[in-house]
Amino acid sequence: MNPIVWFLTGNEGKLNEAESHLSKLGYIVKQLVVNDDQLFEPQASNLEVVAMSKITQALNHLPQEFTERDMILVEDAGLFISALDGFPGVYSSYVHSTIGNLGIIRLLNHLKTADPVSSANLRSARFMAVAALWRAGEVIIGEGVCPGHIADEPVDGNGFGFDPIFVPYDLDDELTPLSPGIYGSHSTHGKTFGAVDFSVKQKFSHRRRALENLFSQLPSAS
Ligand code: IMP
Repeated sequence: MNPIVWFLTGNEGKLNEAESHLSKLGYIVKQLVVNDDQLFEPQASNLEVVAMSKITQALNHLPQEFTERDMILVEDAGLFISALDGFPGVYSSYVHSTIGNLGIIRLLNHLKTADPVSSANLRSARFMAVAALWRAGEVIIGEGVCPGHIADEPVDGNGFGFDPIFVPYDLDDELTPLSPGIYGSHSTHGKTFGAVDFSVKQKFSHRRRALENLFSQLPSAS
């Protein structure tokens, strides 16, 4: 029987992304469901502190089927906008549920300058993810980044959260992100994550990168 990774998340999008990546590595991913009112997200200054808090909380809510071989996965991500000194960052969840995607765009529109070059730079942003895995009492951390920019208007369809307003920079053959304006062999052609297929987002995804970084520290499951 392959090892089970219990992923503490209420977000179907995150669950699908983890499932898609980890099943290829031989892991079974199951959702660890805990009522929202039994969990809290600390207002910490970095994603790793939030992820470690989620591990501690998950350990108090293990499912009955949990065995000694099983692992717990948590993940915390955020959108970091350069011109806003990294805001909303660790406050992404709150900002998304209050001002939302349109609010972010309005905020950036206020920052527009007359110079088209610096005006484009004002929209640069990155998704960052920290994944933490509890395994036999030890915690392993993985990090992933996806650089890109904020679109002029939301383009919806697939995905969740800030996907409708985030356009990733192109990637080269090795899936390494390129600088803004450089064409790569992998591109959303200026489309937001919300406007491309799930499989396309996976190539760019900060979450996929964090999981890859984390699971590369473990022996293979199969
Ligand atoms: P958390 O990791 O669930 O705390 O995410 C913080 C906020 O960022 C939430 O509003 C998420 O919807 C959003 N977010 C996290 N990852 C992504 C992503 O891959 N795409 C779009 N929004 C995301």
